[in-house]
Amino acid sequence: MFKKTILCIGAGYVGGPTMAMIANKCPDYKVLVVDINDERIAEWNSGKPPIYEPGLEELVNTNLNKNLFFSGNVAEGIAEADIIFVSVNTPTKTYGKGAGKSADLKFWELTAREIKKYSKANKIVVEKSTLPVRTAKAMERILHAGNPDVHFEVLSNPEFLAEGTAIRDLNTPDRVLIGGNETDSGQKAIQELIDIYSHWVDADRIITSNVWSSELSKLVANAFLAQRISSINSISALCEATEANVKDVAKAVGMDSRIGSKFLNASVGFGGSCFKKDILNLVYLCEHYGLPEVAEYWEQVVLMNDYQRNRFVEKIIQSMFNTLAGKQITLLGFAFKANTGDTRESPAIYVAKSLLDEQANIVISDPQALDYAKKDLADCVGNIEYCEDPYTATTGSHAILIMTEWNEYKDLDYKKIYESMEKPAFLFDGRNILDHANLHKIGFNVYPLGTPPLLNI
Ligand code: NAD
Ligand code: UGA
Repeated sequence: MFKKTILCIGAGYVGGPTMAMIANKCPDYKVLVVDINDERIAEWNSGKPPIYEPGLEELVNTNLNKNLFFSGNVAEGIAEADIIFVSVNTPTKTYGKGAGKSADLKFWELTAREIKKYSKANKIVVEKSTLPVRTAKAMERILHAGNPDVHFEVLSNPEFLAEGTAIRDLNTPDRVLIGGNETDSGQKAIQELIDIYSHWVDADRIITSNVWSSELSKLVANAFLAQRISSINSISALCEATEANVKDVAKAVGMDSRIGSKFLNASVGFGGSCFKKDILNLVYLCEHYGLPEVAEYWEQVVLMNDYQRNRFVEKIIQSMFNTLAGKQITLLGFAFKANTGDTRESPAIYVAKSLLDEQANIVISDPQALDYAKKDLADCVGNIEYCEDPYTATTGSHAILIMTEWNEYKDLDYKKIYESMEKPAFLFDGRNILDHANLHKIGFNVYPLGTPPLLNI
């Protein structure tokens, strides 16, 4: 017999892992995850999760069908639940007012209406999705309109996990943030959520605020993280022009404890489903509230990311004698970061499309992301090959691009690879993870980020 039933609507990158962790830490709760995507639900139930995330499969299988259940029956789940987490996707709107910037809340609003329709008793509704500030108000209005007998208490509990480290992040979060109404029922609902997280998170890491601060903190945390990457990427361009080395600069700057060393790795640009969408959402909110200077300030983080991706492609074209037509170029890595199969907003998509525009023949290699890569490039015209083995993928190529910081790319036999390539052989390290001096010694023309190239011819 369970103390309470928790429902999560949305069995994606956040809903699945988060609920698997709650089920694991809270054996006294029943945890049910529902989704309209039946294929996804079937995969969760098969014991092989639909997403690759280190440690996830083991965690799910420890609790599957004990106190962790996946189902396609949204209505039944809502009726049964005491606490409902909403973890549906909130992508950037592609149509109408706010297109290209504001969050598309159609999935989210649909869940609010379904919760209202199938609820026969009071419930706590928790915003887990990342949402524009003041969305909870809209949710409360939808839930209560025409439904006077049932009370819904809406909380904001944004998720801060990063893909690739989701299980560690969920197990030892820097903080858990809960925003709620300052009324008695709001405070009581906050306490119910604290009771869940207290099963494994220390009290001093669970913080509370009003709903608006909580909603906004999530957008701001992502904006600050992305801002650091754009800041160091902007400096990488200056380093290349001045013979400084961006790694040395990042180290020297990051050792100042007021600045800190994390998120200062120069790269071909940040990807992932959230940074860009959440910053554009922040920009839209600032414009909406009449703050154009603030909007412009944050928009620059995204523009700098675009600049870095363009710069990477232009460098490839220029250094390979201004023509890529008919040349084979291998992308090592397609996921937006290591340890995930996710390719949403991956800089590799942009780079691959730009190379195809130049009529290069591209070979794509990745240990986890090839299925998504095929979907991402399905509409592209040109020669594309997909090949998991990095040695086969690089044979006969004119250039290698390191697109994802997978650990296995650090340990490849680059001498063997060099020998199998066309000469002159080029290597563009979009993640700055390789031993550039050694590659240069082998014979490559090496283009690191944020320091001048090491050329052999
Ligand atoms: P996702 O696309 O992987 O998963 C969302 C799921 O919701 C999908 O499986 C979809 O079918 C389902 N869904 C949509 N509408 C539904 C409905 N009406 N009823 C039932 N199911 C429905 O998205 P995600 O990456 O898990 O992100 C979810 C939210 O969490 C977003 O707001 C995102 O910004 C936020 N977030 C994501 C991450 C991350 O690392 N991916 C981290 C923190 C926060
Ligand atoms: C990010 C945040 O880190 C999470 O806290 C947040 O919950 C999540 O977004 C979200 O809201 O979706 P995620 O996008 O999964 O997580 O991964 P990150 O580790 O933040 O990496 C994002 C991108 O930045 C990747 O493409 C990564 O390669 C790149 N990056 C990261 C750099 O280029 N340089 C760095 O120093 C760090």
